Amino acid sequence: MFVPDLLQGKRVLITGGGTGIGRNAAERLMALGAEVVICGRRTDVLEKTAEELRAATGGTIAWTGLDIRDADAVDETVGKIWDDGPLDVLINNAAGNFLARFEDLSHRAVDAVVNIVLHGTAYMTLACGKRWLRAGHPGHVLSIVTTYAWTGSAYVVPSVMGKAAVLAMTRSLAVEWGPRGVRLNAIAPGPFPTEGAWRRLTPREDLAQVWETRNPLRRVGEHAELTNLIAYLLSDAAGYINGEVVTIDGGEWLAGAGQFNWASALTEDDWAEMAKR
Ligand code: HXC
Repeated sequence: MFVPDLLQGKRVLITGGGTGIGRNAAERLMALGAEVVICGRRTDVLEKTAEELRAATGGTIAWTGLDIRDADAVDETVGKIWDDGPLDVLINNAAGNFLARFEDLSHRAVDAVVNIVLHGTAYMTLACGKRWLRAGHPGHVLSIVTTYAWTGSAYVVPSVMGKAAVLAMTRSLAVEWGPRGVRLNAIAPGPFPTEGAWRRLTPREDLAQVWETRNPLRRVGEHAELTNLIAYLLSDAAGYINGEVVTIDGGEWLAGAGQFNWASALTEDDWAEMAKR
C-alpha cells in the first residue's frame, strides 16, 4: 500500500523533526511524496537534517527554529509557515523527559518537561487548529504519546502527566473539531531506540537491554515499522480514524499488566505440577 505518491500534496509539520523519531518520520513521509517542514530548538541540527533528507529522498523539506514552549513564537512561526500555504498535518513529536525519582525534582524540573510535552503540544495544536477551522480546511493532528499515558509509570512522572494530558486532548478535540474536518489521533510507541531518549532514560547498557527485551516479542521496534504506521495514519486510507491511539510496542504494556504474566517464568516441571494440582 505504500505507493510512492501515497502522501502527494500533503504538507506536514513535525515538531522535534531534527532527530530521532521526528527525523525518521520526515524521511519516510518525504519518500512518499509529502512536503515536510521540521522545527526544533537547534537550528544547526535542523539545517543538517534537512540537507541530508533532501539528498536521500529527493523530496521537499523546509526547517524553522522554534521552541514550542514559547506560545507567541509558536503562533508567529505557524503563521509564517501558513503564508506559504496551509498545512494538512501537524505531528506533535517534540518531547522532553528524564529518568528521576519524583522527590529529587525541583519545580523547575517538573516545568522543564511539562512545558514541552503538555503546554508546547497544546500551543502547536491550537495554532494549527484555529487556522484550519477558520479556513474550513481539513486538518489532522497526530501526537506521539506513550503507553504510560494510561498506565502511569514510576520515575518519569512529569512526562507521564504531560503525555496523559496530550492523550486526553486528542480524544476531546477529536469530538470537538471532528465535525469541522479536523481529526486528532495518537501513536504510543514502545521501545524504538533513539540516541536522545536512550541516553536520557537508561544509565547502563544492561538496563537498556532489560527495557529492550521485556516485551513479548523480545526485541525493539524497527523504525520502519513505526514510520510505516505514521504514513498509513496520514494517508487517505485512514480517513475514518479519529480520536484513536494506536499502540506499537510488541505487546510491552500488556506484558506488564496481566495479573498472571509472571507465569512466563514457570518451567516445564512447574507446568506439570500445575496440571497435577
Ligand atoms: C533531575 C533535572 C534533570 C534530571 C534537568 N533537570 N535534567 N532534574 N534530573 N535528569 C532540572 C534542572 O536541574 C533544572 O532545575 C530544570 O530541570 C531545567 O533544566 P534545564 O536543563 O535548564 O532545562 P532545559 O534546557 O529546558 O531542558 C529540558 C530538558 C532536557 C527536558 C531537561 O532534557 C531536554 O531539552 N530534552 C529534550 C529532548 C528529550 O528529552 N528527548 C527525549 C524525549 S524521550 P533547577 O531547579 O536545577 O533549575 C520521551 C519518550 C518517552 O519523551 C517514552 C519512552 C518510551
